[in-house]
Amino acid sequence: EQVPLSLKVNGKKYKLKVEPRTTLLDLLRENLNLNGTKKGCDYGQCGACTVYVDGQRVNSCLSFAVMHDGKEITTIEGLADGDQLHPMQEAFVKHDGFQCGYCTPGQIMSAVACVREGHADSEGEIREYMSGNICRCGAYTNIVAAIQEVKN
Ligand code: FES
Repeated sequence: EQVPLSLKVNGKKYKLKVEPRTTLLDLLRENLNLNGTKKGCDYGQCGACTVYVDGQRVNSCLSFAVMHDGKEITTIEGLADGDQLHPMQEAFVKHDGFQCGYCTPGQIMSAVACVREGHADSEGEIREYMSGNICRCGAYTNIVAAIQEVKN
């Protein structure tokens, strides 16, 4: 049985009906066509699905959409300002903070939160905060460099 759900995603309001078991990740990708948020593991291990719920970082594969009635969701599609990339997106491009790019939306969402929440004072602190975002290509050094540039 489907249940009603109201959400704001990247500033846009949605009224939907969803199965109670639908994850926030599947809702974003399949119901709203916001495919920037990636499904890596689907069980909380990789961070590819990272979004913000009311500004807080969340693994969207681990939470049910219905838990977020009335909440404000931000995805990677909501970071840029029109044609103007977010400074963290520009820093990832400049420092080659990716190879295949699959983990990048989640990395960037965590990277922005890392700076905003004040966990970017040292390389060690950055690596600790970013430890839930796995990159199979091993672009970690460049990801840290991108975060350090935005922080400074
Ligand atoms: Fe959510 Fe991997 S897809 S943590």
